[in-house]
Amino acid sequence: MTGDPRGAELCRADIAEAASLLRAGGVVAFPTETVYGLGADATNSRAVRRVYAVKGRPPDHPIIVHLASAAELDTYSVDVADAVRVLARECWPGPITLVVKLRPGSVAPEVTGGRATVALRVPAHPVALALLEAVGRGVAAPSANRFGRVSPTTAAHVRADLGDAVDFVLDGGPTAIGVESTIVDCSRPRPAILRLGGVTAATIHALVGEPVDELIRGEVAAPGTLERHYSPAARVVVVEAHDVAARATALVEQGTRVGVLAISPPNGLPDDVEVLGSPVDADEYARVLYARLREADERGLDVILVVAPPPAGIGAAVTDRLTRAAAGGGLA
Ligand code: TXA
Ligand code: MG
Repeated sequence: MTGDPRGAELCRADIAEAASLLRAGGVVAFPTETVYGLGADATNSRAVRRVYAVKGRPPDHPIIVHLASAAELDTYSVDVADAVRVLARECWPGPITLVVKLRPGSVAPEVTGGRATVALRVPAHPVALALLEAVGRGVAAPSANRFGRVSPTTAAHVRADLGDAVDFVLDGGPTAIGVESTIVDCSRPRPAILRLGGVTAATIHALVGEPVDELIRGEVAAPGTLERHYSPAARVVVVEAHDVAARATALVEQGTRVGVLAISPPNGLPDDVEVLGSPVDADEYARVLYARLREADERGLDVILVVAPPPAGIGAAVTDRLTRAAAGGGLA
């Protein structure tokens, strides 16, 4: 469960400590199956404001409320649509976030940025679920990275990004999925996918059984949908597999420090090129993506040549993040 040599006993003690810190208005990083979150009691304005401050996140970007179970849906929302019931029943706990009509007063206004909607998710991670149960109320949590940067998939990433600015980092080992949840806006007349993630568009179409709009961009204030996002300091360039060797050679000749991330990195790369990873499939690509982008920065690389995975399954979400990282052009 934790990959933590200290064992389950201490982990339970950690969960209890994290829960009491949250209940007392603290800010705690915790694992989910997607990425690590930076949590605060969703009913506590002061605690939620601290999350925005620690992340450096603009206050008009709303935060997902994490719940221990789908039974809490009606505590936080009203006029719950059939599509929401179906998606919650079939996909929770799991990597899908549902934007629904907010039950007024159920969370601090800072969580939703004053909107009439709220984003809800039940994460599929034993440590997260135990924590949420122990807290006994919704936990508002964005990804535990500084705004605009790559999401953390290990407790070490969180510490590197946020250090002493948080009260506690609950270590649940590396996350299993590696990219953020799929977000479906169910508050509009027709559901719309705002962000791709672990639950595919095909699954959502099949479950909802009616047309679903995909990726309305620019229309919604959602930072994960900004084009320039998820960027390492190195410049990310998306290339076709057959172009990698030639592009890498040209860049190395200019004195550029180059890394490559692809499912099958080609032979014949110049010696100086760092192969950041060769995941075997899209699932592994998703799992290692953010760690490899961080590694590129640690190694001081200038450019990362990435080849997108096949678009099936979580491959679509990986390609989405790669495209956004490339649009960032490097956020030094
Ligand atoms: O997998 C995940 O979703 C992770 C883990 C920690 O649960 N969380 C995460 O949170 O990625 P964050 O804040 O980095 O991204 C949440 C996205 C943002 O783009 C935010 O704008 C959007 O959800 N969002 C939150 N509330 C919303 C709302 N009421 N309407 C539309 N979008 C909303
Ligand atoms: Mg984020």
